[in-house]
Amino acid sequence: MGCRVVVLISGSGSNLQALIDSCQNGESPASICAVISNRADAYGLTRAKNAGIPTAVLDHKQYAGREAFDDALMQVIDSHQPDLVVLAGFMRILTAGFVRHYQGRLLNIHPSLLPRHKGLHTHQRALDEGDPEHGCSVHFVSEELDGGPVVVQAVLRVAADDTAQSLAERVHHLEHQIYPLAVRWFAEGRLRLTTDGAMLDERRLANCGEQIRPA
Ligand code: GRF
Repeated sequence: MGCRVVVLISGSGSNLQALIDSCQNGESPASICAVISNRADAYGLTRAKNAGIPTAVLDHKQYAGREAFDDALMQVIDSHQPDLVVLAGFMRILTAGFVRHYQGRLLNIHPSLLPRHKGLHTHQRALDEGDPEHGCSVHFVSEELDGGPVVVQAVLRVAADDTAQSLAERVHHLEHQIYPLAVRWFAEGRLRLTTDGAMLDERRLANCGEQIRPA
């Protein structure tokens, strides 16, 4: 049955919702087989339940350390036999063992034009540095935090009156467009990771991936 996707979340799950919608409206051959959260109160769990998708909660605080948590997480993920694992606002730093285990089938979305602004507070940093453009990136996950090969970016022009809050909203809206797109490419067998980097339709993607500039 299609491409099996497990989605990991920690919070609101608006990206999860965009993925659910694109699977349900037949746009994508992907099917989300489970949603896993490290927080029991993540609203994304409600979104999954509303869509009839199985959920699991693994509270990282119940584990002795990062390795123990990631090992338990891998077991739950693997019980669903996913083709792809999607990080959608999963606020945990993953161990190298976890990242290696899912190499080539682990995607993340980050609210900046990578490699600019890895880490947190990306919108404020884009403003502080006077960036003319800002946006978001979907990338394969590598052992370097926010450092793996980029698949697709959505770019916006920063307006004179933008604030960190307005940028957060504008970027979030773009995230909901490019994450389903990247997952669809993967599910269609068009996107893969090679030793040369990310490939789309047998074409090696540029360092910034495919760039989309919504009107
Ligand atoms: C997004 O801004 C994403 O870029 C970041 O975490 C946030 C998740 O938002 N990795 P949501 O839970 O999907 O609404």
